[in-house]
Order: sequence, then C-alpha cells, then structure tokens
Amino acid sequence: MKCIVIYGTLSGSTMTAATVLSESLKNAGHEVSLVMADPSTKDQIKDVQSVVFASPSWEDNGVDGQPLPEVRQVIESMTAENFTGKKVAICGLGDVSYPHFCGAVDVLEGLLKDRGVTPIVESLKIDRYYSSADNEQKVKTWTAALASILSQS
Ligand SMILES: Cc1cc2nc3c(=O)[nH]c(=O)nc-3n(C[C@H](O)[C@H](O)[C@H](O)COP(=O)(O)O)c2cc1C
Repeated sequence: MKCIVIYGTLSGSTMTAATVLSESLKNAGHEVSLVMADPSTKDQIKDVQSVVFASPSWEDNGVDGQPLPEVRQVIESMTAENFTGKKVAICGLGDVSYPHFCGAVDVLEGLLKDRGVTPIVESLKIDRYYSSADNEQKVKTWTAALASILSQS
C-alpha cells in the first residue's frame, strides 16, 4: 500500500522515530514516502492510501500540549473529502513531566474527528524518546501492528 509518513520536529527525536516507522513500514512491504510537514504536503497525500502523522508536543501561543504548527496545518488544510478512503494513524512524542503528556496526539485526533476520520490503530504516545533504547522497539512494534492492518485492507 502507498503510505506517507508526515512529521514535524524541533530537536530531532520525531524525525528519528518517523524514520524508524517509515523503514518498518517498508520492511513490511509497503511503499513509503517520509516527508517533513510543510505547506506542499497536502498535495502529496492525494495519491496515497495511508497517512501517518508524527509530532512532538510543544507550547504554541502559550498553550502546552500542542502539535507543531506545520503538522497541524496539514490537517487543517484538508477536508473530509480529501481523507476519503485513507487509513490514518498518529504517533506522538512527549515527556511525562509536562502537564499535557503528548497533548499533540489528542489535538490531532480532534482535528481528524472534525473531518470524519478515526485513526485505524490506537495512537502511539512515547515518553522521552531518547531516554530509553526500548522506545525504538515500541515504534517498531506499533508499526508492525499498523502494517499488518494495512496489508489486510
Ligand atoms: C518548551 C517545551 C515544551 C514541551 N511541552 C510538552 C508538552 O506539553 N507535552 C509533552 O508531552 N511534551 C512536551 N515537551 C517534550 C517534547 O515533546 C519532547 O521532548 C519531544 O521528544 C521533542 O521532540 P522533537 O525532538 O522531535 O522536537 C516539551 C518540550 C519543550 C522543550
């Protein structure tokens, strides 16, 4: 299945996690493009069947637990029709010491819900990606479950 992994990052962890995710999807036989979110990303979603969003949580305009604006804006630029027939999943990186752990995931889920989209697997929330080598395995395990569902679709 043709997939796109769309990520935003400030200090690099989400780029690393998104790369692991993308490689795992490829290893499971899917055709994957890995892109950093920007205003042209919407056009690249047109010809894929699956979209994975990956974002850290940060403070945006004084509100914590927010996705990076460039990731949020990709969804905001899309309509329910743009998502028709697409399988969507979300991966979030955060830090449990903040009040809204991986709040970005909840915000992105809300934006998708407004467009009639429910992620096909439970969203992944990862605490301090670089703090434990286990986190790479968590991404691989989650991606394997996602890849398997995509393969059955
Ligand atoms: C200023 C600042 C605000 C943050 N706010 C949150 C937050 O609200 N919730 C959360 O779970 N993590 C929060 N984090 C943690 C980051 O989401 C986490 O370090 C993430 O792995 C960074 O990903 P990146 O390296 O891809 O930018 C914050 C980190 C910083 C430095």
